[in-house]
Amino acid sequence: MVLHYGLEIFEGMKAYRLPDGGAALFRPDANAHRFHNSAARLAMATLPQDVFVESVRELVRIERDWIPSSSDGASLYLRPFTIGTEIALSTKPSIEYTYCVIASPVASYFKGGAAAVTLWVSENFTRAAPGGTGAVKCGGNYAASLAAQAEGIQEGCDQVVFLDAVERRWIEELGGMNIFFVFDDGSFQTPPLSGIILPGITRDSLITLARDLGYTVREEPYSIGQWQSDAQSARLRETFACGPAAVVTPIGKVKGRRHSFTVGNGSAGPVTERLKVALTDIQFGCAPDPHGWLDRLF
Ligand SMILES: Cc1ncc(COP(=O)(O)O)c(C=O)c1O
Repeated sequence: MVLHYGLEIFEGMKAYRLPDGGAALFRPDANAHRFHNSAARLAMATLPQDVFVESVRELVRIERDWIPSSSDGASLYLRPFTIGTEIALSTKPSIEYTYCVIASPVASYFKGGAAAVTLWVSENFTRAAPGGTGAVKCGGNYAASLAAQAEGIQEGCDQVVFLDAVERRWIEELGGMNIFFVFDDGSFQTPPLSGIILPGITRDSLITLARDLGYTVREEPYSIGQWQSDAQSARLRETFACGPAAVVTPIGKVKGRRHSFTVGNGSAGPVTERLKVALTDIQFGCAPDPHGWLDRLF
């Protein structure tokens, strides 16, 4: 069933080495909750959320020597997934499943500080539509994004930003990251959780941290036209994407068939950097954890 009908869901999370040699997960209950929603959306069997969290914890405890100790942002990436394993050709929910967790040490995405990336505005392809599967983490979403990503790379860009499928003007997210805009009045904006974009755990954490730091954060739609005019008038100061790979990735340039503009001076901005440090300091146990996000394993 996984091979023919794409009955597959997954999660992505990390175990972090702490300064005293211990290790922690970051908000694994949030991944468990999203995994549950992904299974339900694909009419797959749901795994009890405590089994999900305990399975990830157990793998990290067993493979503790694989958690990098270096201080440059390396960590142990964890990939829980479920596939439909019933042998059948009819299009229907699977009656058999396999759930696994695999892991791999990963280096810091950007060595020596984050370099700003260039985005390609996808006008030929959309990623998700109302009523579809955009808000869950299933393999099909990523398969559907790859032609757009290939187009972006051919155009000399690093990543693709998707617009909404109906009006083709509202910013949604990147192929594997959510997006934030930082304005000259110190406020933030990020597209709302409309059921189409993935409810990122990094996104949610950054909204909380930004508010803790005194910034105003709006979860409101933002159009590609407004993005271009705000960047050109310098009302918009910074744009960044967020997800587990790079945590926070500054966006320097935006290109498309009808768009071409630079955000700020085209490199990482100070607010982006401040938020990145605030989040990674908590994840690596280098700052207090006021929201109780760290799940210490040993
Ligand atoms: C499409 C998409 N959006 C956003 C994210 C960021 O999600 P999170 O911060 O929960 O890892 C991901 C990451 O896996 C993703 O694949």
